[in-house]
Amino acid sequence: MSAKPSDALVFFGATGDLAYKKIFPALQRMVRQGELDVPVVGVAKAGWDLDRLKARVRDSLERHGGLDREAFARLSALLRYVDGDYEDPSTFLSLRREIGEAKRPLHYLAIPPALFGLVVRQLAVSGCARGARVVVEKPFGRDLSTARNLQEILHKVFPETSIFRIDHYLGKNTVQNLLFFRFANAFLEPVWNRDHVESVQITMAEEFGVQGRGAFYDQTGAIRDVVQNHLLQVLANLAMEPPPEGAGPEVVRDAKVLVLKAIRPLRPSDVVRGQFRGYHEEDGVAPDSATETFAALRLFVHSWRWHGVPFRIRAGKRLPVTCTEAIVRLRKPPGYGSLLPKTNYFRFRITPDFAIAVGANIKGPGETMAIEEVELLVHRVPGAEMYETGAYGLLLGDAMRGEPFRFAREDYVEEAWRIVDPILGGKIPVSLYEPGSWGPGEAAKLAGEEGWHDPDPSK
Ligand code: BG6
Repeated sequence: MSAKPSDALVFFGATGDLAYKKIFPALQRMVRQGELDVPVVGVAKAGWDLDRLKARVRDSLERHGGLDREAFARLSALLRYVDGDYEDPSTFLSLRREIGEAKRPLHYLAIPPALFGLVVRQLAVSGCARGARVVVEKPFGRDLSTARNLQEILHKVFPETSIFRIDHYLGKNTVQNLLFFRFANAFLEPVWNRDHVESVQITMAEEFGVQGRGAFYDQTGAIRDVVQNHLLQVLANLAMEPPPEGAGPEVVRDAKVLVLKAIRPLRPSDVVRGQFRGYHEEDGVAPDSATETFAALRLFVHSWRWHGVPFRIRAGKRLPVTCTEAIVRLRKPPGYGSLLPKTNYFRFRITPDFAIAVGANIKGPGETMAIEEVELLVHRVPGAEMYETGAYGLLLGDAMRGEPFRFAREDYVEEAWRIVDPILGGKIPVSLYEPGSWGPGEAAKLAGEEGWHDPDPSK
């Protein structure tokens, strides 16, 4: 495989939801920034033609991020469309024709994972895989063993350097900033270890439910949907060792894998699963489903740096707010008499906007000798949209240039499954919680005395 940029972008699942919400806005952005001027071929089985696809692109842009007439016209000129069954070899022969002269296409599989094997085989047989790269969307398998099967299928046709596994959290500015803030500030490193850090918490709260994705979600659940991937990525960014100077992307990815290797497989006693009341009434959800819409867990990173420091992760749908935050609490300073300072902390807002804040103690106003807790706002950027649309454009651009840094490597994915594998399925009972609450009361036991940090989007 050459390191030259891809010279065609093919995306399977062109009529689907992901394309509509994320990929078209990302493509428009890439065109606008001069990063996309190669044929863009949509593939789907929908009985559509190119005009229908263009209408769908226009509609998508109007709803997600705004239509830029000039960029849309340029994108339309690049668009091609192939309609056909993925079982049918002639679909892939048509694709081969549409790719034309391109020698290094990028194939983006925005399709259900159950179809990956079929599409990859057809790409190989039709000659479309020659010199190509492939992008796959999470979930990468359902557990460790299916993830390994998937890797095997992909590796039969593509070398690891040509496989790009999208976890859109890696494309978020806020997630990348965890590394930048940590490694670009001298004041942080001396405290970033077990001597000073008391605990780490990561909470992904979502006010909404399954948003019409009941059939997918019911087969997935919170642990597979966001913990195994997005939230372990956040944890790895917070916990990894600084990569040596001049290290390439593989060394950074090695450092993340080492964090996961230091985490033991979870035990049922480290996990609470919850389901919001009314989940069964969602379309596509089985009437007796025991799928979790909430998960709370506690784990340790068994490394020199993090020995004994609890890491807690919590994720749920139908919680009081939509907000993802990580909070790193420092050990309390000693108190003086009645002056009992609160714990200092670093707070990282990951969605829906960006903020980094430091919790500190000062003297209260006026004559009082009491301590007042304040936050030093390091930085805050309100507004969410740019992060996500930006994330997809950024990731697709990286994949087209063959840059692996912001993608999950095979060994990382397998390590992440190894950690959650014992808690998947129905092994742990699921407790009901009220929509709009912070999940089942049982989750409190995992947070210990400090309690869970409930993110407040207004801060
Ligand atoms: C997706 C999950 O991967 O991430 C969704 O499938 C979840 O269930 C979403 O809502 C969260 O992403 P973000 O960028 O909105 O935090």
